[in-house]
Amino acid sequence: MLIYGKEVAADTRSKIKEDVKAFEEKYGRKPCLAVIIVGEDPASQTYVRNKIKGCAEVGMRSLHYEYADGVAQSEIENTVKTLAGDDSVDGILVQLPLPAGYDEKRILELIPDEKDVDGFSPTNLGLLAMNRPGTISCTPFGVMKMLETTGVDLSGKNAVVIGRSNTVGKPMAMLLLNSDCTVTVCHSKTKDLKEITSRADILVAAIGRPKFVTADMVKDGAIVIDVGINRVDGKLVGDVDFENVEKKASFITPVPGGVGPMTITMLLANTLRAATAKAER
Ligand code: GUN
Repeated sequence: MLIYGKEVAADTRSKIKEDVKAFEEKYGRKPCLAVIIVGEDPASQTYVRNKIKGCAEVGMRSLHYEYADGVAQSEIENTVKTLAGDDSVDGILVQLPLPAGYDEKRILELIPDEKDVDGFSPTNLGLLAMNRPGTISCTPFGVMKMLETTGVDLSGKNAVVIGRSNTVGKPMAMLLLNSDCTVTVCHSKTKDLKEITSRADILVAAIGRPKFVTADMVKDGAIVIDVGINRVDGKLVGDVDFENVEKKASFITPVPGGVGPMTITMLLANTLRAATAKAER
């Protein structure tokens, strides 16, 4: 069976829209997300456009800062500093990756933990590691929401995550662990990958290589989540060989229309959460 992220996202967004309206009625302003993008990478441009569009859809305010590749590091830093101190701004997102030559870490460190709607800060990642309330990174958070829709009890399941990035693989592993899965994280140096993935009840592919996960790597009846968005000959292709893996999986996410739409939805949820927390402080 397919898990349609698009449908889950639409349901979640209509709920967020109601909550945004209630927020505005209570506090007399809209929640606000500021998005910063540097350079002309077409994929990043599309993501940012969709994030801005997503804000409008649920009735949130958004600020959009676009810089050409070559803008001074200090200019980006000054913008983040200004937004950090602006009480009308609830969330700050710097679209990654930044073009070569910029010090990403220095820029991200200027985002206060409370406005880190990506959940990328050491504090937010640390809170997740400790299973304490914090901002959860959007993509893994969206995956958990999609897993919820299957109705499958995650407790005690073998979960395998392929990919160990700070933005997806690691928080994904921690979320599954917090849901009582037995978690294995695989990466480029993993030996006998197929032997490990073949035991997975839940398999999350976050590698960034088109059709990397083939049917022989998947257990019969597994839940397969495809986080990959690769462009091949102008077409979007996931990290999973969907056509063949679909025949073995109990649930599988398509690309496009799977995890992608959920990521932005969780960004909106995180922004509303940040706005509410700030308004109540
Ligand atoms: N680039 C690709 N995905 C993301 C994301 O979720 N957040 C940010 N800031 N940059 C990204």
